[in-house]
Amino acid sequence: MKILVTGGTGYIGSHTVVELQQEGYEVIILDNLSNSVIEVTDNIEKISGIKPEFHKIDLCDEAVVNEFFKDRNDITAVIHFAAFKAVGESVNDPLLYYRNNVTGMINLLNALEANAINKFVYSSSCTVYGEADSLPVTENSPVKKAESPYGFTKQIGEQILTDLSKISGMKTIVLRYFNPTGAHDSSLIGELPIGIPNNLVPYITQTAIGQREILTVNGNDYDTPDGTNIRDYIHVVDLAKAHVIALKRMLDGKDENPLEIFNLGTGNGNSVLEVINAFEFVSGMKLNFRIGPRREGDVVSIYSDTKKANEILGWKAERDLNDMMLTSWNWQKRIGKK
Ligand code: NAD
Ligand code: UD1
Repeated sequence: MKILVTGGTGYIGSHTVVELQQEGYEVIILDNLSNSVIEVTDNIEKISGIKPEFHKIDLCDEAVVNEFFKDRNDITAVIHFAAFKAVGESVNDPLLYYRNNVTGMINLLNALEANAINKFVYSSSCTVYGEADSLPVTENSPVKKAESPYGFTKQIGEQILTDLSKISGMKTIVLRYFNPTGAHDSSLIGELPIGIPNNLVPYITQTAIGQREILTVNGNDYDTPDGTNIRDYIHVVDLAKAHVIALKRMLDGKDENPLEIFNLGTGNGNSVLEVINAFEFVSGMKLNFRIGPRREGDVVSIYSDTKKANEILGWKAERDLNDMMLTSWNWQKRIGKK
């Protein structure tokens, strides 16, 4: 029973590959290495003892994708991570994002249909909820107009899968991640942001290691207890484990609908200042930061209602914010200034 993981050398994908291997699944990674490096497969092997089968393939290349699936009858299910994810970049180059995230996914789905592979786990995001009317957000909270082309590609992906699930035998679990952070306990795999990070936690750790001079907190005049934005940070290993559980649910035929959606968060909202405090606590360092203006496009607060994932999926996040900060910091210290 082999599981195809697209984007499997990336941040969330690599952690998921390890969890899959540790649960006894044989994994095939398909990635074009546009935002990851081949050495990740060596580090996966160091953790699990198993080198995953790897194919450098761009999902946008339809002929190559079809060639890959031709004559293969050993793939049971697919976990689809491969996508671009930088919000700002998507605003500046929307076609790049529509092509990569939408065309790439259509090529993949076409090939799956042609080869009767009908179990699919999809990486979505809490970005689909936009500025929610009430908190915490449940899976039934309305999907809002996307703030960026990136966010829209996640919504389009969900819609394609919803449409497909009505007419084909494709079974899908959509996982809406809140804010993934942290790294594997081994510090052998973690997040490798290319260029200046947009996300808070890599910016914190790069500042602490001396790669960035100062962290700017994007506004402290929001209507929240300390004035900074609130998010639901989730440890990447918790997130990875949820993928294995979702996959198993489909393989065991326990899924109740052709398409199911689950929020993946801890259910706790933490402010930017609370994240900084947690980092300072676990690292024993003072972080160099200043308060700056608001960042365009930021929602004030968002955190998840985790009831559906807890009760129906049977998954619960186990690791707290300190743990996320500590593993992120250990990872940054291992890779140094990159
Ligand atoms: P990542 O960039 O670390 O991993 C994505 C991987 O996909 C990379 O290894 C990249 O090389 C590969 N890839 C991209 N386009 C490809 C293509 N056309 N063909 C083959 N491979 C391709 O990102 P991540 O943080 O691991 O995110 C994984 C998924 O989760 C993405 O779909 C992302 O949109 C989604 N997601 C991420 C977050 C987050 O904060 N990290 C939040 C919500 C949703
Ligand atoms: C962002 C994306 C979201 C995407 C997610 C995962 C935006 C508007 N949203 O979420 O679509 O799914 O990443 O990739 O970009 N912060 C600072 N200083 C910094 C960096 C961040 O104060 O240098 C603050 C932000 O303003 C925010 C919080 O930290 O309040 C978290 O930011 P970030 O890590 O970028 O995640 P999101 O904005 O929640």
